[in-house]
Amino acid sequence: MQAQTTAQFSNSIMQGDCIQVMHGMPANSVDFILTDPPYLVNYRDRDGRTIQNDVNADWLKPAMREAYRVLKQDRVAIMFYGWTKIDAFFDAWKAAGFQPIGHLVFRKTYSSKSRFLRYHHEQAYLLAKGRPPLPKRPLADVVDMPYSGNKLHPTQKPVAALAPLVRSFTLPGDLVLDPFTGSGSTCAASLLTGRRYLGIELDAEFHEAASRRLDRVKERVAKRSSPVLIPTLR
Ligand SMILES: C[S@@+](CC[C@H](N)C(=O)[O-])C[C@H]1O[C@@H](n2cnc3c(N)ncnc32)[C@H](O)[C@@H]1O
Repeated sequence: MQAQTTAQFSNSIMQGDCIQVMHGMPANSVDFILTDPPYLVNYRDRDGRTIQNDVNADWLKPAMREAYRVLKQDRVAIMFYGWTKIDAFFDAWKAAGFQPIGHLVFRKTYSSKSRFLRYHHEQAYLLAKGRPPLPKRPLADVVDMPYSGNKLHPTQKPVAALAPLVRSFTLPGDLVLDPFTGSGSTCAASLLTGRRYLGIELDAEFHEAASRRLDRVKERVAKRSSPVLIPTLR
């Protein structure tokens, strides 16, 4: 794919392998990355739904290398990860050039699994490219994560937990990238907070679900920002 400008990518969800799609993007072209890659756990939910690339880690290093390349200098990425595969994720982030500068715990009111412990949290690293400025009012690193309902995707993240992260690390109009879009939760959080988004999703069905979802969010945003009609006085 030829290198294209970010204007061509912004506010769209592309279907394809994020390694190839990002490879076609200019370096230093996105303001923030907020993504939830496969956790490498061969996940299958009660309905039998699975996630592509959740078994092998072949994609991990090349994807992180491209993510680092397309992120602007002195900006941050937030990446969820599977705690059982922390070694592989950390290796890939460090090899790409990312520096860990924070760690987030997303506290769930429900447990998603029970083994030696009941699973009540998700987790993500805050990663830097260069030396990002400190936020004026830093967020707490423990975030409440309500149940999303998982209607559109087996591991759908709730917009309510993502929107504050987008607000904290970007300005209105900035471009937010999610290379592992799933049902488009990061893209929805970005649009609802006045940012631009670019999603990439490999799976055709999830890509379709995310695209339809973002159409609905665009309608909501358009209604919200349409001018109030003042009745003419006669
Ligand atoms: C954990 S899910 C993301 C769920 C998302 N956070 C949501 O709220 O719906 C990871 C997604 O990455 C997609 N994926 C896996 N490998 C990919 C690749 N190489 N390029 C793009 N998407 C990929 C999977 O199909 C899956 O939908």
